[in-house]
Amino acid sequence: MCGIVGYIGPRDAYPIVIEGLKRLEYRGYDSAGIALYDGTDLKVAKTKGKVSELEKCVENEITKTGNLGIGHTRWATHGVPNDVNSHPHVSNSGDLVIIHNGIIENYESLKKELINRGYTFKSDTDTEVLINLIEEVKKKEKVKLGKAVQIALNQVVGAYAIAVFDKNKPEEVVVARLGSPLAVGIGEDEFFIASDASPFIEYTKNAIYLEDEEMAIIRFHKKIKVRKIKNDAEVPANIQELQLNLEQIEKGGYEHFMLKEIHEQPKAIVDTYRGRLLRDEAIIKMAGIEDNMKKFLNANRIIIVACGTSWHAGLVAEYIFEDLARIPVEVEYASEFRYRNPVITENDVLIAISQSGETADTLAAIKMAKSKGAFVFGVCNVVGSSIARESDAGAYTHAGPEIGVASTKAFTTQITVLSLIALRLARAKGTISSSDFRRYLLEMEMIPNKIEKALESDAHIRVVSDIYKDASNFLYLGRGYNFPVALEGALKLKEISYIHAEGYPAAEMKHGPIALIDENMPIVVIATRAEHYDKVVSNIQEIKSRKGKIIGVITEGDTIVRELADHVIEVPDTIEALSPLLTTIPLQLLSYHIAVMLNKNVDQPRNLAKSVTVE
Ligand code: AGP
Ligand code: GLU
Repeated sequence: MCGIVGYIGPRDAYPIVIEGLKRLEYRGYDSAGIALYDGTDLKVAKTKGKVSELEKCVENEITKTGNLGIGHTRWATHGVPNDVNSHPHVSNSGDLVIIHNGIIENYESLKKELINRGYTFKSDTDTEVLINLIEEVKKKEKVKLGKAVQIALNQVVGAYAIAVFDKNKPEEVVVARLGSPLAVGIGEDEFFIASDASPFIEYTKNAIYLEDEEMAIIRFHKKIKVRKIKNDAEVPANIQELQLNLEQIEKGGYEHFMLKEIHEQPKAIVDTYRGRLLRDEAIIKMAGIEDNMKKFLNANRIIIVACGTSWHAGLVAEYIFEDLARIPVEVEYASEFRYRNPVITENDVLIAISQSGETADTLAAIKMAKSKGAFVFGVCNVVGSSIARESDAGAYTHAGPEIGVASTKAFTTQITVLSLIALRLARAKGTISSSDFRRYLLEMEMIPNKIEKALESDAHIRVVSDIYKDASNFLYLGRGYNFPVALEGALKLKEISYIHAEGYPAAEMKHGPIALIDENMPIVVIATRAEHYDKVVSNIQEIKSRKGKIIGVITEGDTIVRELADHVIEVPDTIEALSPLLTTIPLQLLSYHIAVMLNKNVDQPRNLAKSVTVE
């Protein structure tokens, strides 16, 4: 949710901030803005729309000079996306300027107090309240900017990653975080600020990821000072070496990040199981599991919490954990779980799944479970993310950066990690035979090649997409392991093409959705060879008798569904439990092509943000 970027050093800040905003645009893109100190004064340009709009606006409004700059790409929470509500926000005196990612929950009461003291507000944002609060503290307490930020943040309830500077002291930027990510790149006598490291990857490999409740005072020509927001105590700066490279965050010849990421899945899955799946030795080795084996084996149950696509991966995991490891599993939307009063005991294991590792609801759910004594295991993609740090143990998916807002490779690598965990636990519990275990390992190793094969249907899927791109509704049906895949297929289509789609367990169709079926309704049925194959075939017959248009995702060589369906897309055969890794692929491509044909913004669909760091 929103990207923030900043630079202070000997270079021109403008190109670094603008390029950085473009890399972070996946995080929010309803408005963008920049503040530069040009050597004599503060210059601010901001506009509704994308970073490209901002560039045009800068051309007309401000010069691009200056060695200090901060920029923002917004995902509005308070106040509609318009020029005025865009960040940066300037304080009443015109001296202080801020960019902010997050929500100041008590902004209304703070705003009232400030209005009573004579402050005025141009925007509807919570952020403008914060910068004026900082100004008020600075004046009243007669303190430096860093101290004023620290005092003000102690009066604030909510979540934030902020960068603030004072035009009268342009050698200093103050940053702080609680709940929203913030990284500081450390160059030679220069500093970069960003929501993640992608904006500064070509300048430095050294970065500090601020922890929650930490702030930093960054001074040109000086060392960075990290402090606790609560008591102003200095903490040692933990400089980490970045693993990211530029290639990973560029499109690499693909038209969209989403397409690139769909095609990256074979490699991403290899990266996920590398060093963990040791077929020759017939073992699975995952440090986070080995070190906590007792917790898992003694668990009453596993509770999985996640949102969106990650929740769908959790549903697939429920099937495989119960099927292979015979451990009871519950899968919950993090946003529901955290606000009801769930029964959690010390014998529960909570698995939190999150690509970004920053999803506010998932983070809150794990904090709540931890406070009740549960053991928390994180499955995240972004290394060093908040959820990864907050968990007691975990396993990274190693999918590499996922930039497209619609999740693709994150989903399949999450399923890979969760399948490995299920297999490891099944082996430890003795609920899987050694021959079956070996069969799974062998098959898992073959999945990347089989995904390559599934990707070969791309041209055919494009043809099918063209036929159905104008439909206003889609149904997605699947059973067992492929029911969550149906949900995921429907979500993908909704997200990027804005066509209404619903996923259903195939057998549930007759309890309601069947009423929707007519000759205009395309129905994607995942009908790969599986335990309940015959049942799915019967469901297809039911659709056919009501003249629905059937797009079947079938196992290579299947002739039964081929005869019944209007179109089929083949995927290679595999073990049923691993089939979601293959059946997902055509559904990703189908939604991708439809969205492209409808001229939609595939990588940055309207109203969505890559990581949802607000409730
Ligand atoms: C998926 O395509 C989404 N854009 C969204 O549902 C996402 O999966 C969800 O917000 C969870 O994100 P996370 O995995 O980063 O926690
Ligand atoms: N709450 C702030 C706003 O609405 C920041 C939102 C964001 O994180 O982009 O402007």
